[in-house]
Amino acid sequence: MSTQGRYTITAALPYTNGPIHIGHLAGVYVPADIYSRYLRITGNDVAFICGSDEHGAAIPMRAKKEGVSPQVIIDKYHAIIKKSFEDFGISFNNYSRTSAPIHHQTASEFFKKMYEDGKFIEETSAQLFDPEAEQFLADRFVTGTCPKCGNEEAYGDQCENCGSSLNATDLIDPKSTISGAKPVLKETKHWFLPLDQYEDFLREWVLKGHKKDWKTNVYGQIKSWVDDGLRPRAVTRDLDWGIPVPVEGAEGKVLYVWFDAPIGYISSTKEWAKQEGKDWEPYWKDKDTKLVHFIGKDNIVFHCIIFPSMLKAEGSYVLPENVPANEFLNLEGNKLSTSKNWAVWLHEYLEEFPDKQDVLRYVLTANAPETKDNDFTWKDYQARNNNELVAIFGNFINRVVVLTHKYYDGVVPTPASLSEIDEQTLKELKAYPAVISSSIERYRFREASQELMNVARLGNKYLADEEPWKLIKTDEERTKTVMYVALQIAAALATLSEPFLPFTSNKLKNILAISSAGIDTPWNEVATKEILLPAGHQIEKGELLFSKVEDDQIQKQLDKLEATKKMNQAENKTVEPQKDTTTFEDFTKLDMRIGTIVEAEKMPKAKKLLVLKVDTGINTRTIVSGIAEHFTPEEIVGKKVTVLVNLAPRKLRGVESEGMILMTENAEGKIVFLNPDEEGVNPGATVN
Ligand code: 2FM
Ligand code: ZN
Repeated sequence: MSTQGRYTITAALPYTNGPIHIGHLAGVYVPADIYSRYLRITGNDVAFICGSDEHGAAIPMRAKKEGVSPQVIIDKYHAIIKKSFEDFGISFNNYSRTSAPIHHQTASEFFKKMYEDGKFIEETSAQLFDPEAEQFLADRFVTGTCPKCGNEEAYGDQCENCGSSLNATDLIDPKSTISGAKPVLKETKHWFLPLDQYEDFLREWVLKGHKKDWKTNVYGQIKSWVDDGLRPRAVTRDLDWGIPVPVEGAEGKVLYVWFDAPIGYISSTKEWAKQEGKDWEPYWKDKDTKLVHFIGKDNIVFHCIIFPSMLKAEGSYVLPENVPANEFLNLEGNKLSTSKNWAVWLHEYLEEFPDKQDVLRYVLTANAPETKDNDFTWKDYQARNNNELVAIFGNFINRVVVLTHKYYDGVVPTPASLSEIDEQTLKELKAYPAVISSSIERYRFREASQELMNVARLGNKYLADEEPWKLIKTDEERTKTVMYVALQIAAALATLSEPFLPFTSNKLKNILAISSAGIDTPWNEVATKEILLPAGHQIEKGELLFSKVEDDQIQKQLDKLEATKKMNQAENKTVEPQKDTTTFEDFTKLDMRIGTIVEAEKMPKAKKLLVLKVDTGINTRTIVSGIAEHFTPEEIVGKKVTVLVNLAPRKLRGVESEGMILMTENAEGKIVFLNPDEEGVNPGATVN
């Protein structure tokens, strides 16, 4: 069991440039909420803190696109996001926003203190500047090729393909996302946090400290960052959206969004403490306070390297106790994407399943991306609902409640002496709180949710073995005991489900009339209290806790995703203009044959080329083809292809190529052999 203490639990501040989806919920907010609820009901002092991150560079970009001011965008999405969190029972003590005056003030003061203490280096350096839009291009305003993995759509601060954190000037072939222009370098002054000076501190704190028990993905990322050597990092930007840099000579500059956002945790705590008439400082400065950051894996470096270095530099704050970052959730096999609308949006989910908040919480927990990326599928959602929540948890409670009403008018019966199996069942029941606690305290929420389900399984097994519905005909006394024991299990479930399924727990407490009778059993007493529901206690008539999800409801969701896929494919297709007219005579000059690829191998030192041997029926010849990034040699041997056989031979990397294989491109930009039935080959695709 957890020892009682003070916890400051933060959940990543979401950017207000769109609504939130299941990926956000699964990666950050549901686990953070389970953890916070659990700590609260086990008697800890918890500040569960969040708010909107409103200075992200994507926000003015989106505003520009929609032709409104950034304020309109943040107001709109702040409201939508806040409501989604409330709807799903995310029990923040405070949900603030970084546009709030208290945050501007807190972040400015933090910067000023560090500035006055000489914690920054001031440097004039050449930064990317868009000569057409006449502005400096920070981070997200620049895209280009990632120097580490070759992804052509990396952002100026990060490559989403390989996860590397980048400087905008590292990008190969950079391009401004504002005007499309090629950026030029221009001198500008900025303040840098000399992260290189914090290497020893970080090594000591994380690597040599007790952080070995942190999640391996988190520990591994920190270690590789520190081992690679840290560089000073600019904490100011040339932008007009953000918190003005509060020192002389910094006109037109704002704090880097990743400098101000984590300070948002502090401002949100201050806002909350003020409302509650509490002192905020112990939550951040008392050395016994445990600070825990819940985030997704793309935020690890900011929470484990940069923010701790800032806290250390400022000097008066505690450092995080743990940063249990999750991996990513995919949807039906593809990466979740706001821009491609590949998501299950929370507000849309609730339109379809208005009373199934807990179902989504449960599915996302049972299948949480804790140690690897995971996939959300609607079929799995349906199966978890129908086979677990309905068939196990719901079924157990329903049987207990219905039989109690049928046999005893809803009054908990007085048991006779307990049999061995009763004692054994209650003993097993009383072992669960510690088991579930231990999983939660080690941030293993999937495991914890399965242990919770095992409590319901225990109840079902007990009923199936004792068969009170048969027993009532032969042994009324024994039936009373069985129902009494089953009711104790139901009462334990009401307490133990609270962190995971808060709406269900509440309903169950109402059905069992627990709260109204003032007999709520605290988590820490489930194992020790002898009687959870006393004999003579009157329970309420049941409402069903869960209901089945039907095939047509799932099909509707799948159809919606299919429509999104089609729309994306249609948007991606750019049709080349038709070429000049050619004569029939010219056309007949081209000799095209069907051939079979009989051999294929990579061209040494050429990323794109494969050397093929193709049987054209005329002869077997060598053809060099630029398809190595789209096919492995193994997968194309044996394929039939269309070959232009009388193309003048030409040498590629010293190998003579005698012909050309005809190809086209599908909507996702993948090169495919000429086969119009190939998925995503749309009308207008060129053959070449
Ligand atoms: O990645 C994101 O969505 C960021 N808005 C997270 C910020 S977390 C914190 F530092 F505020
Ligand atoms: Zn990369």
